[in-house]
Amino acid sequence: MRTQVGIVGAGPAGLLLSHLLHLRGIDSVVLEARSREYVEQRVRAGVLEQGTVDVLNEAGVGARMSAEGLPHHGIELRYGGAGHRIPFERLVPGRAITVYGQQEVVKDLIARRLADGGKILFDVPDVVPHSLEADPYLTFQGERLDCDVIAGCDGFHGVCRPSIPDGVLSIFQRDYPFAWLGILAQVPPSAEELIYSRGDRGFALHSMRSPEISRFYLQVPPDASLDDWPDERIWAELRARLETVPGFALTEGPIISRDLSAMRSFVAEPMRYGRLYLAGDAAHIVPPTGAKGLNLAVADVRVLTEALAGLYATGSTELLDAYSATCLKRVWRAQHFSWWMTTLLHTFDTDDPYGRRLQTSHLDYVTSSEAAATTLAENYVGLPFDFGA
Ligand code: FAD
Ligand code: DHB
Repeated sequence: MRTQVGIVGAGPAGLLLSHLLHLRGIDSVVLEARSREYVEQRVRAGVLEQGTVDVLNEAGVGARMSAEGLPHHGIELRYGGAGHRIPFERLVPGRAITVYGQQEVVKDLIARRLADGGKILFDVPDVVPHSLEADPYLTFQGERLDCDVIAGCDGFHGVCRPSIPDGVLSIFQRDYPFAWLGILAQVPPSAEELIYSRGDRGFALHSMRSPEISRFYLQVPPDASLDDWPDERIWAELRARLETVPGFALTEGPIISRDLSAMRSFVAEPMRYGRLYLAGDAAHIVPPTGAKGLNLAVADVRVLTEALAGLYATGSTELLDAYSATCLKRVWRAQHFSWWMTTLLHTFDTDDPYGRRLQTSHLDYVTSSEAAATTLAENYVGLPFDFGA
């Protein structure tokens, strides 16, 4: 088999890349380890930056997102017995976020690729990349897929990054001493906006997926198991961490899914080796507090699409050669923002009273200074694609 771009992974990065390349007349094949049902049901991100929404709309895959997604013009920071709204409409006029589940984005992209005759092979768990310096190809299930370039869109635990020879990549990493327990509950949201709540018992986040479905996260110990968290304990902890302002009551209901996520910051540089280009979680991970991971994946494949379009239009590798540096600029801004939101809002085991006071002081600053609040708002809704370039 032969294609122009061999894409490993049918997450948001791989699927959107395949679709954007198709719009430029570039052929690709997507190889995915898991089943279609699995990737369409995997509950993860929910916050789409303005730029991500724009890319999906411009690429003609935003119809359901526009109909069902929930635009938000602010978030609440809750601490010290009070809630403080960060008003995007005033601080970053014209920019907002949209709450729309990642698995819905994935469903929309798969449906569109298949309708356009795109090739996505599911249930292919044994992909191996070969010959990355020249004439690259992928093998799987006794087959061989030759391609001009390979796009490694196979997430943090994929096969592409580890196929790069030792010594090539520089790794930058930070692990956090806690995890997130996430749930989806069949219950209307308890507030109209997202609530990021910091307290002595740990961080909690109130989010949603629709007028009928709520999404919550709890900071839990890094070695927590789902068995430790029966429904009653989850609701009791959410109440203790969110019902901290007068008049706020959590609406409870059946929990329909639960998941645990490690909290990690990670960057592999450069995001390229020979004819292999890494995109999304395959190259970098952020802790989810800043809601940046999916949005970064979209930004990467947008850059990669332009670079590959340049290659096929003119034969020039100029944009491809700049791919890693172009992406890493945005990646490091998101790394900083995600680390900052995480340290601002979580309880650290090692916290000393001094550290706790610093956290409070910084929260007071962000919620009282227009300049500091604007810093949060412009990073949260997403900086323009070419910022600082
Ligand atoms: P993935 O989604 O991981 O996709 C990779 C794909 O490759 C998968 O389908 C996988 O099965 C496949 N694969 C893996 N190995 C192989 C292999 N060997 N061969 C073939 N296929 C393979 N981001 C946001 O922007 N906003 C948020 O609000 C947000 N919230 C989050 C909340 C949580 C709890 C978590 C865990 C993450 C959150 N994120 C958020 C991050 C976001 O979910 C990820 O950054 C995003 O999924 C990255 O997309 P990706 O396509 O790069 O990787
Ligand atoms: C959601 C996830 C996040 O990581 C975040 O910061 C906000 C919302 C969500 O899944 O709704």
